[in-house]
Amino acid sequence: MNQFDRNVTDKHRYKFDAMPAKLDFIQSATGLFLALFMWGHMLFVSSILLGKDAMYSVTKFFEGEYFFGKSYPIIVSITVAIVFIIFIVHALVALRKFPNSYRQYRIYRAHMKQMRHSDTTLWFYQVFTGFVMFFLGSVHLYIMMTNPGNIGPYESADRVVSQWMAPLYLLLLLAVEFHGSIGLYRLVLKWGWFEGSNPKESRKRYKKVKYIITLFFLTLGLLSLAAYIKIGLEHKERVGERYTPTSLMPSQK
Ligand code: HEM
Repeated sequence: MNQFDRNVTDKHRYKFDAMPAKLDFIQSATGLFLALFMWGHMLFVSSILLGKDAMYSVTKFFEGEYFFGKSYPIIVSITVAIVFIIFIVHALVALRKFPNSYRQYRIYRAHMKQMRHSDTTLWFYQVFTGFVMFFLGSVHLYIMMTNPGNIGPYESADRVVSQWMAPLYLLLLLAVEFHGSIGLYRLVLKWGWFEGSNPKESRKRYKKVKYIITLFFLTLGLLSLAAYIKIGLEHKERVGERYTPTSLMPSQK
């Protein structure tokens, strides 16, 4: 036994680094939160498909009007800030998964092509859509955080058309929906949730559910975006005007 070995106590010898497991847990927990948040978010945004008044009521609900009798857009800012922080933490821990050189990227691509294993390919899509969201997600979250009082049927539709957010929203929608549903699928596999007696059959079932969820939220998202574009085009000449709900409009007899 040399001097170095003598200095290494048994305690040190058997101490293992728990950090990778902790980072993996943070990745999963923040990913799960964001994916579930996105489901809720998509359902609220799609209220526009039920009409302008429906979407207006949803925005007023989140501004606390039905609880406090008055709108407090700061509630929206605080909520977005919390989501933004979780988004940043998730992206930060995800950094360790990105290929960090062209060489690593080439090795991964070659491996992926050779394997032709669908889950390996899905991981690549997840990293790619995650990368895209660094930019698109941050722009959207920042604008929402700093303009909380400007969310509504006309306000949002004007942003989509007259402020050119439509292309960004389209790309963000695709990235989020693919990333989120692949992420949930991988979470279920990784942590063994809902696993029956036959893992092969379970995997097939998860894939089917993932496909249905992606299709459902993509369709809902595209229809909602189309509705905002339609309203934004019709409202182009009166851009900046805020929406007044039918119940508050002077009656036109
Ligand atoms: C800049 C933003 C984002 C980046 C860079 C990013 C990146 C990543 C990466 C690279 C992974 C794979 C981690 C692994 O292989 O273990 C991942 C997992 C995941 N992401 Fe994201 N992501 C972002 C935003 C989001 C958003 C907005 C959602 C919600 C729709 C989300 C949901 C998930 C889920 C559910 C997982 C699975 C977690 C796990 O495997 O433990 N991510 N993300």
